[in-house]
Amino acid sequence: MTNPGGLRFTLAITGASGSAFGVAVLRRLSASLAVEEIALLFSPTGKRCLLDETGLMPKDLAALPKVGLRDERDLGADISSGSHRHDGMAIVPCSAGALGRIASGVSESLVSRAADVCLKERRPLVLCLRETPLNRIHLENMLRVHDAGAIVMPLMPSFYTAPQALDDLYDTFATRVLDQLGLRERDSRRWKE
Ligand SMILES: Cc1cc2nc3c(=O)[nH]c(=O)nc-3n(C[C@H](O)[C@H](O)[C@H](O)COP(=O)(O)O)c2cc1C
Repeated sequence: MTNPGGLRFTLAITGASGSAFGVAVLRRLSASLAVEEIALLFSPTGKRCLLDETGLMPKDLAALPKVGLRDERDLGADISSGSHRHDGMAIVPCSAGALGRIASGVSESLVSRAADVCLKERRPLVLCLRETPLNRIHLENMLRVHDAGAIVMPLMPSFYTAPQALDDLYDTFATRVLDQLGLRERDSRRWKE
C-alpha cells in the first residue's frame, strides 16, 4: 500500500567501487516513512561492481519494500520524463564516466537521462563520485554539474563518530545523502546528537 502524498526518489548505482554505500542509501530510503517509492537502476558495470563487492544482485535489492527496478536501456521509463512526479535522484557510487556523461548532457542511457531530467526540472541530483586521484577532466566536470545545479558529494565517509564497523561508515554517509535529498532522518551519530 503506497502513500499518495509520499516522496519518490531515484537511486542509480554505476560502475565504481563502493556499491555498498549505494545499498546503504537504498535501505535507508526504503525504511523512511516519508518515502513512497524508489526507482532503482544500474549501469552494466554497476551491476558487476555490486556483485563483486557485496555478493548482491539487482533482484535482491528490488525485494526491499517500495523499490522498483528500472531497465537502464529503457529510455521510455517513467523517470525519463520531466512530467513524471518525482523528488530527486542520487547516484551512489557515481563513476567518473557517469559524471562525464551528465556534465556533457549525453543522455544515451536511463542513468544519464534521469539525471539530465533532474537538472532541467531543478530537482535534487546528488552525485557521489568515487574516483581517485582526480584528473583535470574530472575536476572540470564536477564544476560543470555543480553549476548546473547538482550536488557533488564524493564518497568520503566521516570518522568522527568512531565507526566500529563498515556498516557504520556506510550508514552515516547514507544519512548525509538523505539530507541532501531533503529528508531529515534521525541518526544518533550526527555530530552532538
Ligand atoms: C571492477 C571495476 C571497478 C571500477 N571502479 C571505478 C571507480 O571506482 N571509479 C570510476 O570512476 N570508474 C571505475 N571503473 C570504471 C567504470 O566502470 C567505467 O569507466 C564505466 O564505463 C563507467 O560507466 P558507468 O557509469 O555506466 O558504469 C571500474 C570498473 C570496474 C570493472
